[in-house]
Amino acid sequence: MQSNQSPYETVDQAKISALRHQHAWLVDPLYKASEAVTTMPFFNWVRNIEDVREFKPVAEQLYYHSATFPKVLGLMLGLTSLRENPMMPFYSKHAFGEADHHMLLRDWMLKHGLIESPLELSQVITSVYTNSCVNLAYQLAVEQDREKWLVTINSGIERCSNDFFKVVAPKMYELDAGDIYFDIHVEADEHHSIMGLEYLASPDGLAFDPESHRAKVLLRKALEGVSLWGAMLHSWIGINYLPLFDDKGQLTNPVDEVTGSHRRVKIH
Ligand SMILES: [Fe+2]
Ligand SMILES: [Fe+2]
Repeated sequence: MQSNQSPYETVDQAKISALRHQHAWLVDPLYKASEAVTTMPFFNWVRNIEDVREFKPVAEQLYYHSATFPKVLGLMLGLTSLRENPMMPFYSKHAFGEADHHMLLRDWMLKHGLIESPLELSQVITSVYTNSCVNLAYQLAVEQDREKWLVTINSGIERCSNDFFKVVAPKMYELDAGDIYFDIHVEADEHHSIMGLEYLASPDGLAFDPESHRAKVLLRKALEGVSLWGAMLHSWIGINYLPLFDDKGQLTNPVDEVTGSHRRVKIH
């Protein structure tokens, strides 16, 4: 499918509210944690960019993340057990939807002079937290725990990604560098984030017990995803910061206490 044709259905707001309410034990802390990430220094950094080329260190790492994500989604699909066969369309649609995003980003980088040749992208050394974030997804794909996957990748990471693109997409228009790569994620990641909740209840229709140990395991895993996402964004601009959250999604180590002021990345 062409990326200028959205593969994502319209989001049904009534359905979303019902899912949010049903899974408040997960959604409330997760939304609180992901919202905290949006107030961190990385987003100030983005808002203060004056030249699109300043975005290069971010785009290079994001390229790696974008190119790896569909591979991990494909791994999740490929390792699906017979018992989980009904999940196959969900995994494959997500993999398909993400498959060409890295190429859109590569073309955008070439168009705006962030790179001169695609070969430069193979020279990028990814940060520890870029690797950590990607490796978490690999771990989940190998583990084949559907609920862990859904709460961490869909409800957690996709929501964080949506927050990222909601800020970056309009910023790029401000810099005369707006692009479908950024725009498509504002819609797509919202869709991915919400639709994961639909498959949280087991196939026999039993809902989750929010008080159970299992619920706590799932919440901790989802919050781990938000922590690694936040750390990854900051590693892209030279800030070493791993945000941590309690079970209510409250940030326990504010950035000022950890790093002091952040430094600005220069144009290379
Ligand atoms: Fe994507
Ligand atoms: Fe996505």
